[in-house]
Amino acid sequence: MFTNLTHNKIAVIGAGNVGSTTAYALMISGIASEIVLIDIDKDKAMGEAMDLNHGTAFVKPVIVKHGDYSDCQEASIIIITAGANQKPGETRLDLLGRNIKIYKDIIPNTIKYNDKAIYIIVTNPVDILTYVTWKMSGLPVSRVIGSGTVLDTSRFRYLISQQCGIAARNVHAYIIGEHGDTEVPIWSLSNIVGIGIDEYCLNYCRNCDRKINKEEIFFKVKNAAYEIIEKKGATYYAVGLAIRRIVEGILRDENSIMTVSSVMQGYYGVHGIALSLPSVINRKGVSAVLELPLTQQEQQAFYNSGERLKKLLMDAGG
Ligand code: 2OP
Repeated sequence: MFTNLTHNKIAVIGAGNVGSTTAYALMISGIASEIVLIDIDKDKAMGEAMDLNHGTAFVKPVIVKHGDYSDCQEASIIIITAGANQKPGETRLDLLGRNIKIYKDIIPNTIKYNDKAIYIIVTNPVDILTYVTWKMSGLPVSRVIGSGTVLDTSRFRYLISQQCGIAARNVHAYIIGEHGDTEVPIWSLSNIVGIGIDEYCLNYCRNCDRKINKEEIFFKVKNAAYEIIEKKGATYYAVGLAIRRIVEGILRDENSIMTVSSVMQGYYGVHGIALSLPSVINRKGVSAVLELPLTQQEQQAFYNSGERLKKLLMDAGG
């Protein structure tokens, strides 16, 4: 009997910079058989779909459409990028009030058509909106995934790779906690070929004067978005690629480890908010969250990150 096992439909809500770049990245990856762009600005969604469609001769077969909420039906994954984004000088948390309001409209409208999909939340502040989506949707924790610090972890690996002169894919290092100002670099577990980063630099690195500049690297990771927004108004390429990676991890049932955000269930004492920790990603969504042997200081910083976001959510009436 013919089954639809290979039909990988993905709905992208929000056809702005991040939504359309995500659709572009997904199109190039060949992982999706159908991509639907949904936006309150129908012309924008239609224009982006047309532009993408004109490249279909150059990629694996894929249907790209624009649509409305009812087109979420039968999607395996629903990616939400809609909402206000940061202007120069704004933090991600400044967007909270505006974007909670937008989510109160989006989530009931999508759940109505599809409560079987995996939801990937991208809109900022992503950790709070991941929690809000989980709460409003009634979905299991495993199927509400925030893009979280997948992007920050990639920035971190890139900057370490630049200082050490080693390819980013050979740098194993993670950023956890909030995707934002209280994020936490896990230096204590960072390694290259299994050798702790300090020891690696001391004995092997010919690039960094035998000592990695941790303060400078973390400062650049944490402030990357501010700097890019100041220069070009928005960030979208790297986040588009990060989302593509999460989607691949899900649809290929990879069991890959990524620092996505999900609703915390007591990890390091954190409840009642979503935060990022290295998590195993497969067809079920987040199938496990890994509690690492962090230092006391790292655990405390992670806990503080959660408390800060919980307070802001409470103040916003969530
Ligand atoms: C970023 O980190 C703005 O959250 C977005 O690029």
